Formats: sequence, structure tokens, C-alpha cells
Amino acid sequence: MKIFAYGIRDDELSSLKKWEAANPEIEVGYTGDTLTPDTAKLAKGSNGVVTLQTTPYERGALEQLKEFGIKSISIRNVGFDNFEFKDLNDFGMKLTNVPVYSPNAIAEHTVLLMGRLLRRVPEVDVKFDNGDFTWAPTIGREYREQTIGVIGTGHIGRVVIKILQGFGAKVVAYDVYHNDDIEKQGLYVDTLEEVYKQSDIITLHVPLFDSNKYMINKDAIAQMKDGVFIVNCARGELIDTDALIAGLDSGKIGAAGLDVLDNENSVFGKKWGSIDNLPNPQIKNLAERINVIITPHNAFYTETAVHNMITVAFDSNKALIDGETPKNIVDTTK
Ligand code: NAD
Ligand code: COI
Repeated sequence: MKIFAYGIRDDELSSLKKWEAANPEIEVGYTGDTLTPDTAKLAKGSNGVVTLQTTPYERGALEQLKEFGIKSISIRNVGFDNFEFKDLNDFGMKLTNVPVYSPNAIAEHTVLLMGRLLRRVPEVDVKFDNGDFTWAPTIGREYREQTIGVIGTGHIGRVVIKILQGFGAKVVAYDVYHNDDIEKQGLYVDTLEEVYKQSDIITLHVPLFDSNKYMINKDAIAQMKDGVFIVNCARGELIDTDALIAGLDSGKIGAAGLDVLDNENSVFGKKWGSIDNLPNPQIKNLAERINVIITPHNAFYTETAVHNMITVAFDSNKALIDGETPKNIVDTTK
């Protein structure tokens, strides 16, 4: 049996070597390149493919894999919004993801973004860089004085809630599916409008679907509190960037913490030397603001998460090739 892996980074190699040592009967090949119609040929002779990328999985790449008889695909991450399910179904492919490699990694990053905004850390850093060791005007705000709206109470949203409660914040939550524990605590409100109305900070933890693309748009923002902070560690396309920029311009939005951006592949993963060189005007506009913190989709990026992503993805791919149905198989019929 042979598994071919795409997008392998140096920081994944030690976990990959451990997996290979524990599974000596399986040949593993890999490349640092992402899966594209061109690189798909590297998987020839393999039984399954393990992959990770934020760019779309093109039909041509999957078609090439199908021609090699490869029908088992395992991604090393949570979100599968960069697949067209129709392509997978047309080619009879099975897909697994890694749903819980470390919700804490993303949740901690989320709460840190909030904390950096609340304590005005970018402004404090600029003062420090200028040798200004005075206090004003960077007076901060405390979590315990905030009502924080958590949209999506799945694996990540629930850890965010737990951490925020440790800081004494008041949480209001919204989800189309109610989790028992969050329900028992009485944290759910019935509508997004209620989240918008009550929250000083809003944080997104829902998957991206066609139905919720740009859910944070002009109308949603108009319903929010003046000076609201918006944090997004889920998917960039959940926020309409023009509406976000207009909200920041008017002061309706007080600050934003963004680990993901609409069209993030135009800038993330590359070295630009300076934000002056960013080619995407919307992202450059956001990056230039002192009240916007952008991180390059690295909320997930911890040692624990990376190790689990490799281990679970390879285990799942092996199971798929063996004809098993791992519990993390993605339902591509929906
Ligand atoms: P999850 O599936 O455990 O939870 C998602 C929750 O969203 C579920 O409870 C679901 O009922 C709810 N939901 C779905 N559609 C909704 C809607 N329209 N309105 C309200 N609630 C809705 O997923 P998770 O592990 O918590 O991850 C959430 C998302 O975070 C992923 O889909 C992915 O896009 C993103 N993510 C980002 C990073 C990162 O590094 N920034 C890493 C992992 C995941
Ligand atoms: C996910 O796991 O869905 C992420 O967003 C992490 C990223 C490496 C793709």
C-alpha cells in the first residue's frame, strides 16, 4: 500500500517519520507542493492521498487521481469548504478530515486576539518602538466587562466559551444546533439579531457554506452595538470585507481580529517584505489599520495540532484504503 501526501512542511516531518515507523508496511511519498492538476501526477502508483491546502481542490486534480485509481482522500485539517462535493461524488471518492486535531489551538488564538484588541496592544507596541513608555491614551478594557457573542458552539466555539468564562466574560451563544452543555448553562439566544444586539465582541466559529457566505454584511453590522469588536478565526468568506471596512471607517466597528480573510490566498503563505507591498487593496486597507490585527491563518499552528493532523489523517487514509469507514468520514451527500 502507498500513500502520497501533498503540502508537507518541514515542521510536519518528525510526526510523519513517527507514523511511518509505526506503519512500516505502508510506503509513504510526499511533496511540499499542493495538489493541483499538474502535481496530481506525483501520486501515480499510490492508493490514497493525504493533503492540506487552503486553495481550491480543482476538479482536474481529482480527475487525474481518479485515473490513477485513487479514491481515498484525507485532509489534515477541519474545513473542507475548498472541495466541490459534486467532483468527489462524480469520481466515487471518499473524503476524511481531522475534525478535532486541537480545538484549543484555535480557541486560544481567538481569545488572545480579543485580549490584544481589548488591551490595545498594537498601539502600545508602536509607542514602545518609539521609546514612548507612558500610559495614555492606550487605556484598555477587561474581559469581565464584555458581553461576547459566540456564533457556532461546535468543538472550537465551546472551548472559546470555557476560556472566556475563566476571564469572567458574559457569553451569549448562537448555533443552529444546540449543544447540551451550553443549553444547560442558558447561554443560547434564539437569533443572530439577538447576538448582534447584545455583544461587545462577536466571534465566528461556524463552517463556511454557500448559505452563510458574507453573513457578516452591511445589514448584520447595522444591527450591532456601536464600537463592536469582530473576531474571525473560522473562514474569511463569512465576512463581507467592504462592509467591514465601511464599519471600521465609520467607527461602528471598533476593532477586528482576523486570522482568516476573504481572498486570503492572494497574500497568505508568502513573504511581502512590508505590508506596503500587499497586492490585494482590501487586505492592505485592513492591514494598515492600528485597530485591526491580522494573523496569517495560523490559529491552528501548534505542535499538538500539527502532530494530530498528520497522525489522524494518515490513519484515516489507511482505513479508507482498507475499505473501512472511519468515524471522521465527510458526508459528501449534503
Ligand atoms: P464544528 O463542526 O465542531 O462546529 C461548527 C458549529 O457550527 C456546529 O455546532 C454547527 O451546528 C454550527 N453551525 C453550522 N452552520 C451554522 C450557522 N449557519 N449558524 C450557526 N451555527 C452554525 O467545527 P469547529 O471544529 O468548531 O470549527 C469551526 C470552523 O473553524 C471550521 O469549519 C473551520 O472553518 C474553522 N477552522 C479554522 C481554523 C484556523 O486555523 N483558523 C482551524 C480549524 C478550523
Ligand atoms: C482548518 O483546519 O480548517 C484550518 O482552517 C486550518 C488550516 C491549516 C487549513
